[in-house]
Amino acid sequence: MCGIIGYIGDKQAKPLIMDGLKRLEYRGYDSSGIALITEAGELILEKKMGKIEMLENHLKGMEINSTFGVGHTRWATHGKPTDINAHPHMDCKHEIVVAHNGIIENFKVLKDILIKKGHKFISDTDTEVLVHLIEEFYKDKIEIEVAVRYALQEIEGTFGIVVISKREPDKIICARNSSPIVIGVGEGENFIASDTPAILGHTKRMVYLDDDEIAIIKKDSFRIINMKNVPITKEVQEIEWSIEQAEKGGYPHFMLKEIFEQPDAIHNTMLGHLMEDIGDTRLGGFRIFSDDELRDLERIIIIACGTSWHAALIGKYLIEQFARIPVDVDYASEFRYRNPVINKRTLIFVISQSGETLDTLAAMREAQNRGGKAFGIVNVVGSTIARESDCGVYTHAGPEIGVASTKAFTSQLTALILIAIFLGRKRNLSLSQGKRYINELKLIPDKINKILENTDSIKQLAKKFFEHNNSLYLGRGYNFPIALEGALKLKEISYIHAEGYPAAEMKHGPIALIDKNMPVVFIAPKDSAYEKIVGNINEVMARDGIVMAVSNEGDEEIAKHCDEVLFIPETIEEFTPLLTVIPLQLLAYYIAVLRDCDVDKPRNLA
Ligand code: M6R
Repeated sequence: MCGIIGYIGDKQAKPLIMDGLKRLEYRGYDSSGIALITEAGELILEKKMGKIEMLENHLKGMEINSTFGVGHTRWATHGKPTDINAHPHMDCKHEIVVAHNGIIENFKVLKDILIKKGHKFISDTDTEVLVHLIEEFYKDKIEIEVAVRYALQEIEGTFGIVVISKREPDKIICARNSSPIVIGVGEGENFIASDTPAILGHTKRMVYLDDDEIAIIKKDSFRIINMKNVPITKEVQEIEWSIEQAEKGGYPHFMLKEIFEQPDAIHNTMLGHLMEDIGDTRLGGFRIFSDDELRDLERIIIIACGTSWHAALIGKYLIEQFARIPVDVDYASEFRYRNPVINKRTLIFVISQSGETLDTLAAMREAQNRGGKAFGIVNVVGSTIARESDCGVYTHAGPEIGVASTKAFTSQLTALILIAIFLGRKRNLSLSQGKRYINELKLIPDKINKILENTDSIKQLAKKFFEHNNSLYLGRGYNFPIALEGALKLKEISYIHAEGYPAAEMKHGPIALIDKNMPVVFIAPKDSAYEKIVGNINEVMARDGIVMAVSNEGDEEIAKHCDEVLFIPETIEEFTPLLTVIPLQLLAYYIAVLRDCDVDKPRNLA
């Protein structure tokens, strides 16, 4: 999730690109850069770590006469946010420049080959591989678009790229695979961007690239080809959105946009980690431990806050099930102030979207001071927890702008599944079990898409519930933490009092709350706890409570026991939280909208 803008025309490119970068800052903001080819044919590349303001200050007073260039704002995936790792990246001869969104999965293999051929790398990014690869093909009379096409055929992963060459200063090349690229069509000028808001102020006429398409853009024309060099005809679309609407991708709120981004976020979390053929996962972070150390682990402690703490609870169920290692889950704020027992055979996992939550950071430092090794599960690359943990894995969910955590949560769950499989395979998880888990995990993004295709029933339900001021969320096993998460989502954005409980605990107190005004949400997929949870549902119905359940498609039986049912596709029991949470996020969202709440910036939260 980074932002790209390119321009070719007669206007001065520097102010235009800088303005576009500022509009893209919501996509990523840890560093930025600009590459311009001047009228004199000189290639100028300037990059700065930090917000776009840093780059702007750096460029102040620089007279650059250029009508052709590209800019990038970065949300780091490979390599810390530094000046050198900022995009665009350049080849050895300082002729070609590439700005890239996405992740190049096979970059390590390619980098080794290119180094052997004499290429000099200066950054830690996956992107730099691409520019050297293009350089490798850009020989003799080969045109830049041909070199780009050859290079992309070697790439595994996702990309939205913009490429310029000093040797051919009359064209910009761009291409996409799973990372958006749009061409803004002007009069005697053309624009390229990863997101429409960057260029919407200049033109409303857009051409959207599809996967495996390459565009060759000149100032007064453009043509599109596919990876086999076959020409493609595309329609120019007239955009009606305002810039603000466009930033949210047409969604009314960032939270809704981020809910819909979950299939991609989960896909990105898995990318490069799955080894289907041997039923295992590849997690570089564990390299600091020997196999014996991992086999001899005595205990795991997971530390986190809020939604990340709910992910940790599911992590406990997963790791204990797959790897048979005892796991404790601690609130970071509690852990740091008590006297925890840690020894050399204890491994600490630290989960944080932002990587900056103070309690989590302090708890991690406390654990490290007591001799524990900390493994970070973090979304923001280069954040303090990512830097200070001993090792870890990034979730690659992209920037989460809505305060209510959604896609960060499901990508944390995905990372925890990868970890549980990894530890399990070191201990007693069989090859066939490992394969089964991996094959099922790969299906999850599509199953989430299926839920997202049918949001109408959830909207209707929100209309029934939005005027109630209390609610109870109940689940068992893997879905007990989802009860907690569903309740947290509702309370933090709609200000409705909501509590989550293990369903069987209801009879030890909360049952006293149940009457005809109490909505109770049951998370009841067809799993090993199903019969028991139907029993709990009947207990609530018998006391006139209003029951809504999340259950599996085709479960006609449960509908007989409840007032309302939201259906999700089937998956294996251990992965149900990845699906059951989606309707609950949407329910909270639609209720908050009906209550006229500021969904993306709930009161008192930051
Ligand atoms: O960035 P972190 O994951 O460390 O943040 C932890 C919590 O503050 C966060 O999950 C919070 O609970 C969210 N607002 C929940 O939606």
